[in-house]
Amino acid sequence: MSSPPVSRPERTVLVGVTGGIAIYKAVELVRGLVKDGLQPLVVSTAAAQRFVMPLTFAAVSQAPVLDDESAWQASGGWFQHIEAARQARVMVVAPATANTLAKMAAGMADNLLTAIYLAFRGPVIVAPTMNWAMNEHPATVENLRLLAKRGVEVLPTEEGELACGEEGSGRMASPDAIRLAVRRALAGTASGPLRGRKVVVTSGGTRERIDAVRFIGNRSSGKMGRAVADEAYLRGARIALVTTRPAEGTPYPVVRVESAEDMAAAVRSEVSDADVLVMAAAVADFAPREAREGKIERAARDTLTLELVRTVDVLAATAKPGLFRVGFAAEAGPQLQRARAKKAAKGVDMLVFNDILAEGVGIGSDENEITIITATGETHVPRTSKAACATAIVDEIEAGLGAP
Ligand SMILES: Cc1cc2nc3c(=O)[nH]c(=O)nc-3n(C[C@H](O)[C@H](O)[C@H](O)COP(=O)(O)O)c2cc1C
Repeated sequence: MSSPPVSRPERTVLVGVTGGIAIYKAVELVRGLVKDGLQPLVVSTAAAQRFVMPLTFAAVSQAPVLDDESAWQASGGWFQHIEAARQARVMVVAPATANTLAKMAAGMADNLLTAIYLAFRGPVIVAPTMNWAMNEHPATVENLRLLAKRGVEVLPTEEGELACGEEGSGRMASPDAIRLAVRRALAGTASGPLRGRKVVVTSGGTRERIDAVRFIGNRSSGKMGRAVADEAYLRGARIALVTTRPAEGTPYPVVRVESAEDMAAAVRSEVSDADVLVMAAAVADFAPREAREGKIERAARDTLTLELVRTVDVLAATAKPGLFRVGFAAEAGPQLQRARAKKAAKGVDMLVFNDILAEGVGIGSDENEITIITATGETHVPRTSKAACATAIVDEIEAGLGAP
């Protein structure tokens, strides 16, 4: 029996492409997977080929594209739908049209892509994309719910301007988000305490409104929280990222907030069914008593006095039994003692301390230097990338949670 055209089956990822306008992003996805050292094997529907020629995918994936034509022409006992399914480790459908999702949910196999899906036994990821009304139609909602229930990872669609010119939720997850999902599926073996648990992470600096255009903010970039969310995601956790600084490329849901009050409300709602809360956001301690209407005029004014009041303490407002809570303490100087006192005062399970005056690390930077204070000890992580800090933080969270 002949083999499908792949040279590295253990690195092979099936990439199903369907007839959605977001298919242009699938070209970038396939390139990205190649950069990740993987071998994408593109399976195209007939509608997909009306948008992007197989030649493009063949060139970027460095492998022939499989389609209905190639399946019917295959000879010598090679059944493409079975062999391709056997040889790949992960299958991702991006873009996934309403039509193909419906066929997958119904178990139809009237083209090569859906036949491969039925024959495939590994992890499957779908990145839906469509007009918001198609996305919200009960048929689509039900199809996605059914696929998720059967273990398919359904990546959230993003809000924004859609190709049809309308606004709404229906944009395909970004290629970076899909690559992260593929990485997690390939790791596959995540069996630590975070697997299946819900982790709520906050990130970014809050903005407290002064008037219609001005706010009091801070320089937090949201990078540390994002790195923690990505790391927990890779270990199999269900993530909700509550942030003031949404960046593209998350394969998990993001709740966008602005002020400390918004953040407290979003966190309160998200932690109701969560196991872990990581408060990496830089939340304002004080906010204007009230936001003024319109724009405060500069004319005829030499000074401006704002009355600031204490904001809600988000950490204190979210204490509940069984919720493992992680706080962050950004202190000016090597104030480890203060951080230890803060851990006790806040009653958190873990506190991550960093010195904002240390050179080249902390707020806004890609690097950090932290000390993780837990109930059983302290771990110092010397200056390194925020991703490496996140690995250490999530290691400690898993140690604190113990066996599932
Ligand atoms: C210009 C254009 C854009 C389209 N975009 C989408 C889309 O984003 N999502 C979707 O579900 N269907 C979209 N469709 C409809 C699908 O192409 C159509 O349902 C097709 O039958 C899908 O076939 P497939 O799922 O086998 O690829 C679009 C159609 C056209 C003509």
